[in-house]
Amino acid sequence: MFRLSKYHPRVVLWRALTNMGPLPVLARSRDAATWQNFWRTETLDAVFESYAKGSPLRDWFARKCVDLGPQSMVELGSNVGANLQALWKADSNLKLYGIELNENAVNWGTKNMPDGCGIRLMTGSMADIEGVLARNGVDGVDIVYSCAATMHVNDEIFAAAKKQALKVARKAIVHLEYNAWTPAEMQNGRNWRSSFLSDRWIRDYVAEYESMPGVTRVECLRVPPEINIARNIGRLWVNDMTAMVIVHLQ
Ligand SMILES: C[S@@+](CC[C@H](N)C(=O)[O-])C[C@H]1O[C@@H](n2cnc3c(N)ncnc32)[C@H](O)[C@@H]1O
Repeated sequence: MFRLSKYHPRVVLWRALTNMGPLPVLARSRDAATWQNFWRTETLDAVFESYAKGSPLRDWFARKCVDLGPQSMVELGSNVGANLQALWKADSNLKLYGIELNENAVNWGTKNMPDGCGIRLMTGSMADIEGVLARNGVDGVDIVYSCAATMHVNDEIFAAAKKQALKVARKAIVHLEYNAWTPAEMQNGRNWRSSFLSDRWIRDYVAEYESMPGVTRVECLRVPPEINIARNIGRLWVNDMTAMVIVHLQ
């Protein structure tokens, strides 16, 4: 296959421009604390209405989780609880909880929850799973999961969430997230994070868990492309969730 030499002037210029990134001085990447504040302070009804919508992807995810045979589950970053509702529709016997940073989302979701579902949304950070559960009288769950939420926290918050999820979950930890399937994807995703546009932290979720104590097996599933909606950010097309990772526990 024909390739330009890496010393070709066009290649040198292209490398220089892409390494510099867009508007390097005027638009710096925002740090993790700024993004946490962004999530914590959302108030718009229109945003919560949009998060409340069901989708084939939520139903697919719920069915896969129910197949693991849990009796109780907690979602990290549940917003108004749309995934929890999909789970309740898939199995109405489940005890379902959500931990959400944004108190407005918790209040909106609680007010609009279907009668009789018993879903409990709790305000707090995923960095404090044990504290939030203890304050709400919840003594462990079978599955701890996240959907498009750990991708929005930095490595420090994720490390705290992972450590506590490993203690609190009895059966499995599940992530439907922005997963790096290859080292190149990891590198590109991390580089993109350092641009001003991205509030997402890519991870190799299999590597995060495979050698952890108590983990028996880690599965990584492809999300069926026909239900995995892509969105564009400028000229770049992205999928928020690129894999469903199931961490099986002893
Ligand atoms: C993209 S939304 C996804 C919401 C929901 N999981 C869904 O699938 O519709 C990310 C959610 O994570 C929440 N979040 C961000 N940081 C968090 C943290 N440290 N602890 C708990 N929730 C957090 C945000 O407030 C937001 O509701």
